[in-house]
Order: sequence, then C-alpha cells, then structure tokens
Amino acid sequence: MFQQINQKNYLYVLGLVVPWCIYRWYKASRRVTKKEEKYVYVTGCDSGFGNLLARHLDKQGFNVIAACYTEKGEEELKKITSDRLATFHLDVADSKSVEKTAALIKTLVGEKGLWAVVNNAGIALPSGPTDWLTIDDYKNMLAVNLCGVIDVTLSVLPLIKKAKGRVVNVASVFGRVSPFGGPYCVSKFGVESFNDSLRLNMAPYGIKVACIEPGFFKTNVTDTVAMKKNLRMLWDRLPQDVKDDYGPDYLQASLDMLEQRFNMLTDGNLMKVVHCMEHAVSAVYPQTRYSAGWDAKFFWLPLSYVPTSISDRFFRKNAPPFKPRV
Ligand SMILES: NC(=O)c1ccc[n+]([C@@H]2O[C@H](COP(=O)([O-])OP(=O)(O)OC[C@H]3O[C@@H](n4cnc5c(N)ncnc54)[C@H](OP(=O)(O)O)[C@@H]3O)[C@@H](O)[C@H]2O)c1
Repeated sequence: MFQQINQKNYLYVLGLVVPWCIYRWYKASRRVTKKEEKYVYVTGCDSGFGNLLARHLDKQGFNVIAACYTEKGEEELKKITSDRLATFHLDVADSKSVEKTAALIKTLVGEKGLWAVVNNAGIALPSGPTDWLTIDDYKNMLAVNLCGVIDVTLSVLPLIKKAKGRVVNVASVFGRVSPFGGPYCVSKFGVESFNDSLRLNMAPYGIKVACIEPGFFKTNVTDTVAMKKNLRMLWDRLPQDVKDDYGPDYLQASLDMLEQRFNMLTDGNLMKVVHCMEHAVSAVYPQTRYSAGWDAKFFWLPLSYVPTSISDRFFRKNAPPFKPRV
C-alpha cells in the first residue's frame, strides 16, 4: 500500500514539475523582435567578453555600438563585423570621453532611443593583500570598474528610457564574496549595489536591469603572468617591516598558489558568459541575475550564503601561510 501511495505522490510531483520546467524553458527562450531596429552599446570591446558579445550581437542582427579602449581594438573589430557595427573610442574612467560617446550615440540612435547598454569594461589589477595597497590603487580601479559603470549608465539613461530598454552590468562572483584584498571586490560589490538600486528605480519606466556574475574565465583579467608580475611589484615596493610581518616565504607561496588555483578554476569557454549577456539583452523576459560558469553556480554563490564564520575559516585555511620573521 505504501508503495502505491509513494508512486502516486511521485506522479503528482512529476505532473507539476515537468509542465513548470517546460513553461520556464519556453519563457526563457522567447526573444525580442525587430533586432535590426535596436541599438546596443557595449563597453570594453577590445578583448574578452565584450569583444565576443559585440561580434555575437552583430551576427544576430542588432545595431552594435562597440566602445573600445584602443584604436587597435576598433580596427580589428571592424575587420570582422558587418557595416551595422559602429566603433567608438571610450575611456570609461574619463567623464569627457563618456559624455562625448553619449552625444555620438544620441545622434546615431535618433528617435528610436538606445535598446541596451552593457557595462562590461573592467580591470583587475592591482590586487593583493589590503595592506600592500595604497588609496590611489583603490581610486584608479574604482574609477574604471565602479564610477565608469555609473557614469556610462547615467550618460545614456534618457536614451534607454525612450526605448524602454535595458541596462546590463557585468559584476562578478567577487561582488558576492570578498576572499582577497584590494579594490576589485570593493568595485564589484559597488556594481551590485548600483545595479540593485537602478533596477528598482527604473522599473516604473519599463527599463529592465540585469547583473552578470561570472566565475573564473580565461581572459586578460585572469592572466596569471600579469597577476604574478603585479604581486611581485606590490611586494617590492613594501616597506621592510610589512615584509617581515608576512615572512620571507610569503611571496613565493602566494605566487605558487595563484598559479595552481587559476589553472584549476579558469574556464576557457567564454561563450558561457556571452550567452548570459545576450539573454539579458535580447530575451523578452531577462533574468535579474546570471551566474555564469560552474564555479559561480556551485561554489561561489552557495559560499556567499554560508555563515561568515564558516566562509572566513575556509578562506583562511586556503590562504598562503604566514611565517613572520621573529
Ligand atoms: N575573466 C573573468 O574571469 C571575469 C570574472 C568576473 C567578472 N569579469 C568582468 O568581466 C568584464 C570583462 O572582462 P574580461 O574578463 O573580458 O577581460 P578583458 O579582456 O581584459 O576585457 C576588459 C575590457 O575592458 C577594457 N578597458 C580597460 N580599461 C578601460 C577603460 N578605462 N575604459 C574602457 N575600456 C577599458 C579593456 O581594454 P584593453 O584590452 O585595451 O585593456 C578590455 O577590452 C570586466 O568587468 C571583468 O571585471 C571577468
């Protein structure tokens, strides 16, 4: 008898879950129409996710406005994309550059307005223990990763209101947990916060705001050669008393750990992130958050929900060993 009840319950659950999954899949698969009339502004298109997204959206028929940091980036992108794609030079940390680009975009999009802005440009260096860094290190990165996101968004928000469009902000799993020092996590927590207030404030205008939270992917920001060079540079400029606090072996242990962890964690399939970005831009029902990558979904995100005492113990256990000079 128990077996019969269990079987019945199982069928009831299945009868609810399967239609719900089909409904979710159908909802997620619906895309906006008239892509050829929609303009999408992407920052940081020289390399990495931004470059791939610009090319992907171009292939899908959107009018892509690809903002590049370098002339070389602009030239290379133009060579491999359609005539619909326009490139502009943009330094997101420079308000004049942001303003100039917004004025050019206003002329380009006209009465249609701007369908979406993707705040992708970002940097990850210098990164290291908090007491290895200066306030200027923080200010420089926050200028790009946080103020740049805010400045670019505000500069085109009236155009997005016109199109009842979208803002897509690229944060990181390090906008959820902060396992190392320096401005990177600070900047990404800031992006998450800006994203959340913007989403609430813009909802009455029909503007959708989505946040992308990738895990570790193989791009310039996770390049171990540059990261190791940065750690050595930070160590070399430290006063002797701080070096003594950490001990003579700390730098080498950090470099070894960095190499091993990044090799283990970084995913070479950047399209996992690009598909999330594309969904945020073109889905009829975009998600509010996208966790891109297995490490984001099954490690970093769950870790962000565990009690601080447990996550702190985990991070400290996995940090390079301190052997202060006595
Ligand atoms: N890769 C990851 O594992 C990962 C994980 C989580 C989040 N993210 C985030 O994803 C975004 C894209 O990074 P990515 O991994 O694709 O690395 P990337 O290849 O280095 O892309 C970053 C882009 O931003 C540009 N840029 C740098 N400073 C700029 C400035 N002041 N103004 C305008 N553009 C600027 C870079 O130009 P140049 O190439 O000319 O310097 C580059 O095109 C970043 O916001 C990053 O924080 C990356």
